[in-house]
Amino acid sequence: MLGGLSPAQFMHKHWQKQPLLVRQAFTNAVPPASLKTLAALAAQDDVESRLVTAFDGEWKLKQGPIARLPAMSKPGWTLLVQGLDQHLAEARELLDRFRFVPDARLDDLMLSVASDGGGVGPHFDSYDVFLIQLAGRRRWRIGAQRDAVLRDDVPLKIIGNFKPDDEFVLEPGDMLYLPPRWAHDGVAVGPGCITGSVGFRASTAEALAAELLPRLLDEVDSGGKLYSDPRQEATSEPGRVPVALLEFARRAVEAAAQAPHALERALGEALTEPKAKVWFEPGEPLEPGLGASLDRRSRMLYDAAHVFLNGESFRAGGRDAALMHRLADRRMLTAPEVARLSPGARELLDQWTEDGWVQPLKP
Ligand code: SIN
Ligand code: CO
Repeated sequence: MLGGLSPAQFMHKHWQKQPLLVRQAFTNAVPPASLKTLAALAAQDDVESRLVTAFDGEWKLKQGPIARLPAMSKPGWTLLVQGLDQHLAEARELLDRFRFVPDARLDDLMLSVASDGGGVGPHFDSYDVFLIQLAGRRRWRIGAQRDAVLRDDVPLKIIGNFKPDDEFVLEPGDMLYLPPRWAHDGVAVGPGCITGSVGFRASTAEALAAELLPRLLDEVDSGGKLYSDPRQEATSEPGRVPVALLEFARRAVEAAAQAPHALERALGEALTEPKAKVWFEPGEPLEPGLGASLDRRSRMLYDAAHVFLNGESFRAGGRDAALMHRLADRRMLTAPEVARLSPGARELLDQWTEDGWVQPLKP
C-alpha cells in the first residue's frame, strides 16, 4: 500500500516531511459508500457533511444536513462527508489499514464525491492526510508553499496565491500522502469522483492543557480544605496578594498535576472520549464461547497501568492487561483469549458488551 516502502520506512522518510504518490496503492479499490449512500448519510443530522459548489465561479459552502444534492451532470460541486468509519464497517476497515500510526493520532475517514470540475479549491490542512482515489479521477496540484495567503472574500479556506510545483491525475486505487500545511488542490476530472481522506488529529499544547486541567481536578481530592491564615498580621497594604495565598494556590495546582496516575488517566480518558453525536446500541452480556470485537465507534488505548475505553479508565495488570492490550491493538479477542480473562476482567467485558462498546464475535 505504501509503494514498496515498509511502514517503518514510510514513517522515517515521509511522515510529517515529504509527500508520497503511490500508484495502485489499492488494487480493486471499492469505495466504502456509493453516491446514493453518501447522499443518504449527508441528509442525516448526526452526520457531519458539507456541500461545496463553485457554480459560475462563485464559491459557496453549505453545512449539512444536506437534503438534496445537485445533479451529477451539473459540473462544479462536491459533497464531503466526515467520520464515515463511525457509520460504515467498510470505512472502518479502510481506516484500519493506517494503524501503523498510533490510534491516538488517527482521526477519521472522510469521503468526498464530486461532479466534473468539483473540488474545495487550493488550500492547506493543519494535519497529515492520505488522499485515496476510490472512483473516477482527480487532478491534484500540490506545492511546498510557505507564503500561502488565504483569501478573505470566500466562505472557505482558499489560498489566493497558490503556486503548485507538481501535478498528477489520480486513478482509482492511487493514493497521495501530504504532510501538514502542504498546499494542494484536487479537481475532479469527469463525474462520479470519489476520494477518501484519512485524517489525523493533534492538539496544540494550550488546547490539551485546557482539556486536561479540569480532568486533573476531578482526580484529586483536597478534602475541601479552605485557605486559612491564622498568622496573618494587620496590613497597611490591603491591596497586596498575600504570599501565603499564592503558595496555597501553587500547591493546589501542583498537587493536581502530580497526583499519581492523574495525568495518565486524564490523557487516556480525553483521547478515548467518543466523538460528538456518537451513541452506542446497548447489547447483551457476552455468551460463553464467543470472541469479542470493539464496536467500530469505540476508542480504546492503554498505557503501562491502565486501559482506556470511550472516555473511561481501568487499572489492569498481569495477564488481563496483556489481553486488554491485545483487544486495543487488534480491536478483537478470539474466544480462547476471552476464556483466559480473570473473572473480574470478564465481568468488565460483559459490561462493555451491554454498553454496546464491544460486540460479540461469532465463531
Ligand atoms: C476532497 O476530497 O475533495 C478534499 C480533500 C482535501 O483536499 O483535503
Ligand atoms: Co485538504
